[in-house]
Amino acid sequence: MATVTSDNLIDGRALAEEVHQETRETIARLLAQGLQPGLAFIRVGEDPASRVYVGMKEKACARLGIKSRTEVLPETVEQRDLLRRISELNADPTIHGILVQAPLPCHIDSAAVFNTLSPRKDVDGFHPVNMGRLLLGDPGGFVPCTPAGVQQLLLRSGVPVAGAEVVVLGRGNIVGKPLAALLLQKATGADATVTLCHSRSRNLAGHCRRADILIAAMGSPRFVTASMVKPGAVVVDVGVNRVEDASAPGGSRLVGDVDFEGVQPIAGKITPNPGGVGPMTIAMLLSNTARAAALSAGL
Ligand code: GUN
Repeated sequence: MATVTSDNLIDGRALAEEVHQETRETIARLLAQGLQPGLAFIRVGEDPASRVYVGMKEKACARLGIKSRTEVLPETVEQRDLLRRISELNADPTIHGILVQAPLPCHIDSAAVFNTLSPRKDVDGFHPVNMGRLLLGDPGGFVPCTPAGVQQLLLRSGVPVAGAEVVVLGRGNIVGKPLAALLLQKATGADATVTLCHSRSRNLAGHCRRADILIAAMGSPRFVTASMVKPGAVVVDVGVNRVEDASAPGGSRLVGDVDFEGVQPIAGKITPNPGGVGPMTIAMLLSNTARAAALSAGL
C-alpha cells in the first residue's frame, strides 16, 4: 500500500496567483495608457451554480482592476433580445470582453449566441472563429479558459507534455474538444499524443491506464478510480458534480470526476478539487480579458 502524502498535489491556487501577477502587470501598462479593461457578464436565469461562478469571476476582476458588470436576464428571455444585447455590448468601446455564462435555457440556441459575439471580445474562446484558430494552431485567437488553464497547470508544475500519452475523458465543447486540440498543437506545453475518450469509447479503463497524463472532464462523479490510473501518472480533475450527501450542509456537496482519495497515493501528481483547475480557469479569463483590451487599442 502506497503512503499517502500531499507532496504530489498541483496547487492550482498558487499557480493561478502566478498568472494573476502577470495579468496585473499587463493591466498596469494599459492603465498607464488610460485604458481600463472592461468585462461584461451575461447570466440568463437563476441557475445557482452559474450565480456562484459569475460571482467568483466578478470578485477576481475587482481584485485585478478589471471593470466588470453583470447583466441578469430572465429565464424566459427571448433569443432575439439576448442577441440584441450582445450586439450592443459588441459595439460598446468600454467593454473588451463578453462572457455569456453557460448553461443557457433550452429555448436558446447556444450556437447562435456564440456566433453573435464579436470574436475580438470572445474571451471565453467559444466563437467558431476562435475555435477554428485553436484547431489551426493560430495564436491570434482566444483559447477557452479551462483548457488554457489545464495547459498552464501542466507547464507551470513542470509536467513534460511533449511526446506524452494524454488521455482526455469527455468531448464537450467547453473543455474536452478544445483541450484535445490545444495539447496536440506543435507548440510549447503541447506536442502530446492525445486520445479523446467519451461515453461510446470501448475499453475506457484500458485507454486510461496507458495515460502519462489523464484529464477527467466528463462530469461523472468520482468516475476515475485507482485501477484506471498508471502508477506515476499525472491526473487532472476538471469535474464539478453536485452529489447528495445527507451529512453535508444543505444535503449535497461537490465532488470531481476523480476518486481523489483512491487515486492520490498512486498518482505522480494530481490536482485537488476544489483548488486545482477552478482557480486557473478564472486566471485565464482575466488574462484573456487584459489581452483583449490590449488588442483593442493596438497595444
Ligand atoms: N459554464 C461552465 N464553464 C463555463 C465557461 O468556461 N464559460 C462560460 N461562459 N460558461 C461556462
